[in-house]
Amino acid sequence: ALPLLIDTDTGSDDAVALLLAAASGLGDIRAVTTVAGNVPVETGTRNALISLQTAGRTDVPVHPGCQRPMTRVLSSAQHVHGQDGMGDIDLPDPVAAPQDTHAVEVLLSLPRRYPGELTLVTLAPLTNIAAALLSDPLLLTRFRHVYCMAGAADLAGNVSPTAEFNVWADPEAARIVTQAATPDKVTWIGWDVSRKDAVMSPADQRRLEQIGTPMADFAHRINRTLDEWARDVTGLAGYDLPDPVAMAVALDPGLITEREQAHVDIAVGDQTRGQMIIDRRKAAPAPNLTLVRRVYEAGFKKLLFDTLANPVPSP
Ligand code: BDR
Ligand code: CA
Repeated sequence: ALPLLIDTDTGSDDAVALLLAAASGLGDIRAVTTVAGNVPVETGTRNALISLQTAGRTDVPVHPGCQRPMTRVLSSAQHVHGQDGMGDIDLPDPVAAPQDTHAVEVLLSLPRRYPGELTLVTLAPLTNIAAALLSDPLLLTRFRHVYCMAGAADLAGNVSPTAEFNVWADPEAARIVTQAATPDKVTWIGWDVSRKDAVMSPADQRRLEQIGTPMADFAHRINRTLDEWARDVTGLAGYDLPDPVAMAVALDPGLITEREQAHVDIAVGDQTRGQMIIDRRKAAPAPNLTLVRRVYEAGFKKLLFDTLANPVPSP
């Protein structure tokens, strides 16, 4: 199984990504770090612990990280995932407690202890990663690979017409990451991909309900608020699963059907805050990111439903 370090602002779709990492049999979660984003960092930490517990992993260390973006005020997304980030279904407190070691310390120390072994998957604003990069500019090279749920390469944003939440929430952090990235090490998968290839349609939701395992039931119930938001904002039936599809691609890169390498910068001005500036000119600077453009939808859903129906005990 793939050794994983996961950075998350655990809301209801991060939670499903954690279930995939913990129970698909493909991942071996070494640590989880949390950051302010969807919800304040304390809430996201609680939600990460609850999600891991649902997958039978009360042993995974969860390290709280940055409390706010680098220069901006925190604009959380509680209207999207519920006040508690998990659909407000009164989930009981987790049995495990968070660790004392700060997320940024873990991001700095773990990849040095296991050089080239760990895959970093980020499901949140990139604040913790940028903070670690300020102290270790070679950080990204120390991972086997880095997958980020970030951006909207075809400009279909969810926070603004041109920006996706994780990048919009802390564009300065995203910029620090793009400036340190190389396309052989860093892959971004944007919100546009989840809207095309990872939508939990009404039929999929019925299937999820019918599976009836505790994990499937959890995944279904925590995402009711997200489903309502998706219907109101996108006008489409079904909610998308950006973090789960990013995790799926990290666990099984064979699911990627279309990708490109490009030079990407991040806009930090008011109107275009968080927009990806993708340079496709012939004279563009060398690519810094690999961008996932499409994913094999049936393969992603098979992995998701198989995991929720038949969880594989973790290593
Ligand atoms: C991202 O923002 C959050 O709502 C999701 O968890 C995902 O990480 C999508 O823009
Ligand atoms: Ca997230």
